[in-house]
Amino acid sequence: MADAKKLYIKTYGCQMNVYDSERMAETLGGQGYVETKTPDDADMILLNTCHIREKAAEKIYSELGRYKGLKADKPDLKIGVAGCVAQAEGEEIMRRQPMVDLVVGPQSYHRLPAMEEAVAKGGKALDTDFPEEDKFEHLKSRPKAKRGPTAFLTVQEGCDKFCAFCVVPYTRGAEVSRPVERILTEARDLVERGVREITLLGQNVNAYHGAGPDGDMTLAQLIWALDEIDGLERIRFTTSHPNDMDDALIEAHGSCSKLMPYLHLPVQSGSDRILKAMNRKHTAQDYLRVIERIRAARPDILLSGDFIVGFPCETDQDFEDTMALVEAVEYGQAYSFKYSTRPGTPAAEKPQIDDGLATERLHRLQELLWTQQRCIQDNMVGREVSVLFEKPGRLAGQMGGKSEYLHAVHVDDAPVERGDIRKVKIVGSEKNSLRGAMI
Ligand code: 5AD
Ligand code: SF4
Repeated sequence: MADAKKLYIKTYGCQMNVYDSERMAETLGGQGYVETKTPDDADMILLNTCHIREKAAEKIYSELGRYKGLKADKPDLKIGVAGCVAQAEGEEIMRRQPMVDLVVGPQSYHRLPAMEEAVAKGGKALDTDFPEEDKFEHLKSRPKAKRGPTAFLTVQEGCDKFCAFCVVPYTRGAEVSRPVERILTEARDLVERGVREITLLGQNVNAYHGAGPDGDMTLAQLIWALDEIDGLERIRFTTSHPNDMDDALIEAHGSCSKLMPYLHLPVQSGSDRILKAMNRKHTAQDYLRVIERIRAARPDILLSGDFIVGFPCETDQDFEDTMALVEAVEYGQAYSFKYSTRPGTPAAEKPQIDDGLATERLHRLQELLWTQQRCIQDNMVGREVSVLFEKPGRLAGQMGGKSEYLHAVHVDDAPVERGDIRKVKIVGSEKNSLRGAMI
């Protein structure tokens, strides 16, 4: 393909954006594009954006500014903005940066071919609808290219929970689950192409309720259906809401051997007062009870969470309640953020707390979370884990992969191939990874 056009995609934010970027690259492959790793030789630059926290739009405008020189040198260069900033800003993007040719919201990616044709003819294309049809249905994946051992697979998108701080229900829209058969077909295709571990994605993945042969199926039922695919060895899912952890899903953690012992279950705060103000619809005690049940089903599960500090009106006591919840749970992994105002969300109207105080609290929380993570990681030393090897390490002969607990593990002189799953003994704990030896 000597005359293939080159596409540079820059992805921001969550794993769902990573998945969407892959699908967009495949779709634009059908329009004659191949991916390139640098914007310098691109014929199209596509920014797949995230709007979850502060200054997201400003960052995109300044990133776009950096492409001005490229566009001046190559007037045929097409520049597009996709993702949640595209959804939130819409036409404003083209007003502020007239060099942008294409703006596409996360629910309209199946319309990219027509949009690309419009911009190829020198026009502009903008689509931030929430159309009825499934955006994945028409994305023809096409060349059966070999894949790495791990892949994401979106099963559910959007959210109806409306947490008071969050833009997702506005940028990704209402909750929609993909039908079971389509997910199974995509999973089988991935496995044929070399994938051994699939992470099911959804903003509210455990609220999954996709159409199956005999009515709607839950996430637990979907996991059991995926469990039957030969060659698929590992299943993960993210991100879950505590209120949607049903009995069957908890039970699957104990009985489905392909379901990995790792759960990302955000709680956001440990204070009932703040949880109420956040519209989370559960208490700290409800969350702790869910954790207790999960640990009863799978005692060695590694837990991960998300936290927001400095939510409007958060008092010292509210913050101490969060610290106490973290002490009670013991997280192996966590993400913590200072609250940032998202225009259009209910919390944006509330009186904000002092920024310096919020920063101080964030540091204290992060220190505690970090100590817990270290402790859990260090305690892996001496244990046997199974590692899915993904890629060569930094040193010659070294191979790296992930344990079932999602710890990065590297092994020196590992006689293994990419995609192998092997028993490994953990012999050391380093800053961001574990050192293992083959058994
Ligand atoms: N401010 C700070 N953090 C936020 N998150 C979502 N919205 C905000 C916000 N306005 C965090 C939550 C969520 C994660 C994906 O991002 O913790 O779980
Ligand atoms: Fe946002 Fe998650 Fe709350 Fe939905 S459940 S509104 S995605 S934080």
